[in-house]
Amino acid sequence: MAKDKYKLEFAKAIEVSFKELFAEEYRTQFDSGIFREEFIYKNLEKPKDPTKGRFAFPIFRYVKQLGVKPEQLAENIAKESKKILENGTGSAVTTSSQGGFINAKIDIVSFASETIKELISLGSKYGSSSEGKDKTILIEYSSPNIAKPFGVGHLRSTVIGNALKLIFNKLGYPTEGINFLGDWGTQFGKMIVAYRKWGENKPVEDLNIKELLDLYVKFHLEADKDDSLNKDAREAFKKLEQSVESEIELWKQFKDISVKEFTRIYKILGVVYDETTSESFLNKEMESAIERFERANLTTISDGALIVDLNDDRLPPVLLRKSDGATLYATRDLAGLIYRWDRYKFSESLYVVGSAQADHFNQAFKAIELLEEAENIHVDERMSGRVKHIQFGWVRFGDMHFSTRKGNVILLEELLQKAVTLAMEIISDKNPDLFDGSKISEDTPLENLPQIAQDIGVGAVIFSQLWAKRQTDIQFDWDTVLSFDGGTGPYLQYSHARLSSLLRKFGNDITTEFDFELLNNKEEERLVELLADYPAVIQHAAKDYEPFFVVRYLLKIATAFNTFYQRKTADFKIIKIIVEGNEELTMARMSLVKAVQIVLKDGLNLLGIKAPEEM
Ligand code: ARG
Repeated sequence: MAKDKYKLEFAKAIEVSFKELFAEEYRTQFDSGIFREEFIYKNLEKPKDPTKGRFAFPIFRYVKQLGVKPEQLAENIAKESKKILENGTGSAVTTSSQGGFINAKIDIVSFASETIKELISLGSKYGSSSEGKDKTILIEYSSPNIAKPFGVGHLRSTVIGNALKLIFNKLGYPTEGINFLGDWGTQFGKMIVAYRKWGENKPVEDLNIKELLDLYVKFHLEADKDDSLNKDAREAFKKLEQSVESEIELWKQFKDISVKEFTRIYKILGVVYDETTSESFLNKEMESAIERFERANLTTISDGALIVDLNDDRLPPVLLRKSDGATLYATRDLAGLIYRWDRYKFSESLYVVGSAQADHFNQAFKAIELLEEAENIHVDERMSGRVKHIQFGWVRFGDMHFSTRKGNVILLEELLQKAVTLAMEIISDKNPDLFDGSKISEDTPLENLPQIAQDIGVGAVIFSQLWAKRQTDIQFDWDTVLSFDGGTGPYLQYSHARLSSLLRKFGNDITTEFDFELLNNKEEERLVELLADYPAVIQHAAKDYEPFFVVRYLLKIATAFNTFYQRKTADFKIIKIIVEGNEELTMARMSLVKAVQIVLKDGLNLLGIKAPEEM
């Protein structure tokens, strides 16, 4: 990102002040680079309280050995810098000190002019950059298991991964969104046994995903009473591994049913992938991966199983092959790591998977690190350090506990249907004209409900997965999720619709030909500051793989806008944005409206949420 010119001016003024006042006394410190412009620029902080200024240099951190009081030093330098900045070409930056901080404020008029002009001219490109050029990022997200319904458990991964992809794209990174279906393992042996025993009255292709789930649940119920079913299941899976035609046929059909269902859900959610792959795809890659570990002398036999020992790193071993010859989830992930690296030579590869799998990924990444070390691969050619597990916490619904085996899962489809139906009820109360003519009954499929209700209901569900930091466990609760006030998706969408409606009502093009003095109030100042923060917020979200930072920012700016919108005069009259007979003031305020609308819409889109113009 281009350097911030205000920060540069400030850093330069501090350097010059320090030189003038103290360079003789503190020669060594100065020569060591502290108090030089670049050092200061790099170490600027943002005051928690925005009224203290836009950025601050915490000089107290660096002067302990000098034997001066940091408060005194800060005060002297702030005064000197202030003079320098005023005397020069006349800077928009003014300095002051507090405690051991030197604070900088920016004159709102030039700050507003600069920010709003840039924003209006760039539109939705505001905040974009090309820092990610040529640095391909792989993002794996969702990765549900076939023959089971898409449960809410995979929703959080889907939503976080999709947002990360959009955020990285905004910063110019080429991304590859990967869906890695769980389609291999003993549970498919169970499915085959269950279908043959209790399902064959219906051709497989006529089964739906719920009937598949019922078979799976029935299997576990019966196997509790009759253990021989488990043995049958293991045998059926073995046949799958040996590619026995009849079993493969059945398995393929289970897979088709699931993929059809998943595709529908991704479409409703607006989630896209560049590649859909699966565990079974790696079957052909596993042998060569195992051989590589063997050649590198990293494998041992333990109780008949082939393992990679990680004891030196205090981790449990990775199991490559069980004593009966069967491969495992870990084997497939190792093969997948190698495959993805060979294929993409990525700059980073992210696995958006729940925290419950932290050990699994630690082990897999460690095993790869050992392999690359043992093979003496050049550091630049290693994937270690580029592969990351992007963890997230649980989603809780009331006091429900989920277990696919027992069948008590919340189906994502039902959740979305309910969200969209509720959204529709709420908006038809608020804005009855919006849906006139659309006839809806209980069983209208989700895709046929009015687009606006889909945007809001689906948006609310997406938001519900992002409103806290990803490592935090979250609670899903209908009343909060669909509320129009407070920290919700509909609240942000509603704020955006309000901005859009103002722009419609105004009807003219937005220009920036007005006196920016007109924006010289504290509500405007707050909005301008937030608008100027947007690019840094996106960068921060990318750096920490944390879409929540965008969420938190959008809530702040929506709230700041609503304060501006509802502001009243001393005698409690609403201060209008569109002021009859005062075109210049109206344009000044409308330019701010437009700028906030651009950022709110873009921010919602980065989260994968639509921003309707009306609701
Ligand atoms: N299908 C797995 C599950 O539902 C998640 C897969 C995560 N990705 C991976 N590369 N292991 O638990």
